[in-house]
Amino acid sequence: MNGMTDMSVIDAPAAGASTTPAAASETPLLELRGVSKRFVKSLDAAARIANLFGAHAKEEVVHAVDHVDLAIRAGEVVGLVGESGCGKSTLGRMAVGLHTLTEGTRLWKGVDLEQLPAEKKREKQLAIQMIFQDPYASLNPRLRVLDIVGEAPVVHGIVPASGQKAYVEEMLTRVGMDPTVLRRFPHQFSGGQRARIGIARALAVRPEFLVCDESVAALDVSIQAQVLNLFMRLREELNLTYLFISHDLGVVKHISDRVVIMYLGRVVESAPTEQVFAAPNHPYTQALLAEAPKLEVGKKTYVAIQGEIPSPLHPPSGCHFHPRCPYAMPRCREEAPALKEIAPLRMSACHLNDQR
Ligand SMILES: Nc1ncnc2c1ncn2[C@@H]1O[C@H](COP(=O)(O)OP(=O)(O)O)[C@@H](O)[C@H]1O
Ligand code: SF4
Ligand SMILES: [Mg+2]
Repeated sequence: MNGMTDMSVIDAPAAGASTTPAAASETPLLELRGVSKRFVKSLDAAARIANLFGAHAKEEVVHAVDHVDLAIRAGEVVGLVGESGCGKSTLGRMAVGLHTLTEGTRLWKGVDLEQLPAEKKREKQLAIQMIFQDPYASLNPRLRVLDIVGEAPVVHGIVPASGQKAYVEEMLTRVGMDPTVLRRFPHQFSGGQRARIGIARALAVRPEFLVCDESVAALDVSIQAQVLNLFMRLREELNLTYLFISHDLGVVKHISDRVVIMYLGRVVESAPTEQVFAAPNHPYTQALLAEAPKLEVGKKTYVAIQGEIPSPLHPPSGCHFHPRCPYAMPRCREEAPALKEIAPLRMSACHLNDQR
């Protein structure tokens, strides 16, 4: 963790000041129920050869995401936070359908898209788009902006080929770019402009839900703020819903209505943003907040979370956080705490809540 970025220049509505929250009973826009993702790490050539000579190397299983429930209501901005390797990108990819689920169900407006005929699924799937971390790597360097942004809407029949140019110009204007750059290639733009092209490409298929995976992490802080402002403006203009993934609490603080904290493949806390920052419940969330540098006093005071992040190849028993937790009890080593409601809209997975 490199701590909290000062995002005070963002003029988006403050967390919690969002548009009317949907009623609790309303069907979520996107829901993941009990989803897990395990990756099997195949043996490399050296291990296979060693096995021929009597070694016993086995394939290893990475528990990237472990029985996660996540429901996102229409209009919500949910920030997904946790240290590198905790499974944020994997969960984001599962949410948009880029990863199959090892276990669990994904529902879009209450419907399991996997159960739909292929054509119907493709059509619905367009409403769910991902904006990637590195805008340069995710833009084909050999394509011009016209094709990067304009290809998918023509392929999917959203605009006729004859209307492609005007449509791409409209998308570029929407993301605050000069619409005359249609013939240029990605390398001719700055990082901030490439990020905007990536956003225009996603918007071109008229999504309702965007998963933004570290979408501003590669940008300078001042540019980060501009792009986050753009995300918030688009939310208002297009009624978008976001899952905003970041390792940086400072980024999600100013734009999220709710924050979900992950640790080693599991959700450990979920709460309205202002409550997470004012009174974090889970010891891991408390440690993350304590680790963030205090920028306002002009000097950085880091209190690193004790211990290393354990490997998802061999996650600790019971509560995954127990080897690093200052409050760990014998029970924590044996029993995984369930994610429970501890107050209205607040969920946490810690045995300490049973004692309160
Ligand atoms: N395609 C993959 N194959 C094997 N392991 C993977 C793959 N993608 C992610 N992982 C592993 O899953 C864990 C979670 O990764 P990731 O979701 O990228 O975390 P984060 O985005 O929070 O940094 C890591 O241990 C990572 O190495
Ligand atoms: S369950 Fe135990 S180890 Fe896990 S966070 Fe709570 S007190 Fe710490
Ligand atoms: Mg990631």
